[in-house]
Amino acid sequence: MKEFKRYLITSALPYANGPVHIGHLAGVYVPADIYVRYLRLRGKDVVWVCGSDEHGVPITIKARNEGVSPQDIVDKYHNIIKESFAGLGISFDIYSRTTSPTHYKTASDFFRTLYEKGEFIEQTSQQYYDEEAKTFLADRYIMGTCPHCQNDRAYGDQCEKCGSTLSPTELLNPRSMISGSQPVMKETKHWYLPLDKHEPFLREWILENHKEWKQNVYGQCKSWLDSGLQPRAVSRDLSWGIPVPVEGAEGKVLYVWFDAPIGYISATKDLTPDWEKYWKDEETKMVHFIGKDNIVFHCIVFPAMLKAHGGYILPENVPANEFLNLENDKISTSQNWAVWLNEYLEEMPGKEDVLRYVLCANAPETKDNDFTWKDYQARNNNELVAVLGNFVNRALVLTNKYYEGVVPECGELTDFDKEILAELPALKKELENNIETYHFREALKDAMNIARLGNKYLADTEPWKVVKTDPERVKTIMNVALQITANVAIAIEPFMPFSAEKLLKMLDCGKLEWEKLGEQDIIKAGHKLGKAELLFEKIEDSVIEAQLKKLEDAKAAKLAAAAVVEPQKETVSFDDFQKMDIRVSTILAAEKVAKTKKLLKLTVDTGIDKREIVSGIAEHYSPEELVGKQVLVLVNLAPRELKGIESRGMILMAEDATGKLVLLSPADKVKSGSQVG
Ligand code: 2FM
Ligand code: ZN
Repeated sequence: MKEFKRYLITSALPYANGPVHIGHLAGVYVPADIYVRYLRLRGKDVVWVCGSDEHGVPITIKARNEGVSPQDIVDKYHNIIKESFAGLGISFDIYSRTTSPTHYKTASDFFRTLYEKGEFIEQTSQQYYDEEAKTFLADRYIMGTCPHCQNDRAYGDQCEKCGSTLSPTELLNPRSMISGSQPVMKETKHWYLPLDKHEPFLREWILENHKEWKQNVYGQCKSWLDSGLQPRAVSRDLSWGIPVPVEGAEGKVLYVWFDAPIGYISATKDLTPDWEKYWKDEETKMVHFIGKDNIVFHCIVFPAMLKAHGGYILPENVPANEFLNLENDKISTSQNWAVWLNEYLEEMPGKEDVLRYVLCANAPETKDNDFTWKDYQARNNNELVAVLGNFVNRALVLTNKYYEGVVPECGELTDFDKEILAELPALKKELENNIETYHFREALKDAMNIARLGNKYLADTEPWKVVKTDPERVKTIMNVALQITANVAIAIEPFMPFSAEKLLKMLDCGKLEWEKLGEQDIIKAGHKLGKAELLFEKIEDSVIEAQLKKLEDAKAAKLAAAAVVEPQKETVSFDDFQKMDIRVSTILAAEKVAKTKKLLKLTVDTGIDKREIVSGIAEHYSPEELVGKQVLVLVNLAPRELKGIESRGMILMAEDATGKLVLLSPADKVKSGSQVG
């Protein structure tokens, strides 16, 4: 493996339109922090840059919805994000932002250089324009009817109801979300980066020279390259962003994905006047930590930009992760289905490392993974408390008890002692190898295995028994146990820095160098230890239940707020209404319709007759709870066949805010067949 002189680590700039959540942390920031802390402990020259991504359409939409300016939005979230990262011990060397003056200048200069080198192509195209608001419309600013599912609130780029990806011209009855008017097509000019021109270089650089990249990353790049790269627009018609710095570009800004990665360069400039050595010297190893949705931008577009500009190094690796789900559901900002870092820190003080531990142990390194509060609790109680905390506590408490906290002399080691101690350098090697190859879950297991080794050592040597018969031997046992404890303190630092610090304080032996990991005489005999404290505490069921309830409440509140009350339908005459024959009916039997998820076959007594009706309520009611219920039935609806069953009538229902179907019943019991009207 090539040895590099220094490291430049970047992690995706989070959009400043909301706080960060556990998905961001598990995918990007926790792994990057582990990597960087490890490099620092090894004394490497490393800088880690990050910052808020403060441009892009979602920020302008949020600002409009809240009646404030985009700058207000990014100011608010930049501070929330920055503070919460610090609260979790995410140790960037700089957390900058893309509205900084340095960034404006850096991004503008970058664009101008490419422009002057003739690296762009200029192209005109037709785009939707709002004549009332006098502005071109970003895809997200156009709403209309989805051609696939008829949802009349589909966006210009996507229908959230059926999940189809759309282009604005596919929408039926498009309307501008700014003025509500119908947009018109108008010609507009933009600058494009001809990715196709860079394709041969990218193919060789990635597909030939970076076969070691993670499978998911390599695979995604290969599939982009194999389907042929197209020129990509790097400007937009918007008022929020960095103005395109050339003549004839009034009202146009840099596309957010053009300026954001340049933010890594600007942040490095803000960090150190010596920034060029990190960006322009082949002896720097640049690594981008990102989520899988950012792969194309970091492996294809940004490298093409850097190459076209010239003078910059390219990333050595891009260890992108998959996604983290929450309680078996996709994390969703708009559905408020997330665990937000700022709230976690407030509600779970002192549990920073628990979250770091769980997110790393469960990191979506090779596939999407799930965070559940039950798993969080189990990992805390069964691993952090029962393995790590337990070992450290026993080692320290016994030393206090037998030797008043003074490290005893190590006498002659038994074969078993030697066997145990010999595992330390082996674990160190494995841990280092795992971190250096971005296998953080495995690396964390290695660190925990040192504590497991300690527990095994104490369980097998039983100093609490031996002390009665051979107190000299116990001195050696406790010395060995304390050496293992010191090893634990070093090994857990990249993963759980708060606990490492606490443990070092308990050992009272100052900072321990990484190089000492694996050694067996880290703490000298005669050294007085500090005060012992519990490293981790058991988490009770009530804490977990409260978090689960909070999630459900948040989701329900969001759904209720979002529930759209449909406008009143066309007026009908009294005669038309009279034509509908609605009867109170009683459900006599109910059973699932085979091979369907949603349908139940109901036998109802309508008072007129007993008949079968097929109803789509299987996901909302079980057959047992329906039998005997009185419901309202439209009995003269034309019969139709569903799954081979003739359905004669319709059971009337309402839909609640969560999408659950609710049966309608008379407030008091009436006889079957009673007319409704
Ligand atoms: O996906 C995102 O959250 C983007 N804001 C990431 C930007 S990374 C970089 F290039 F700046
Ligand atoms: Zn749709």
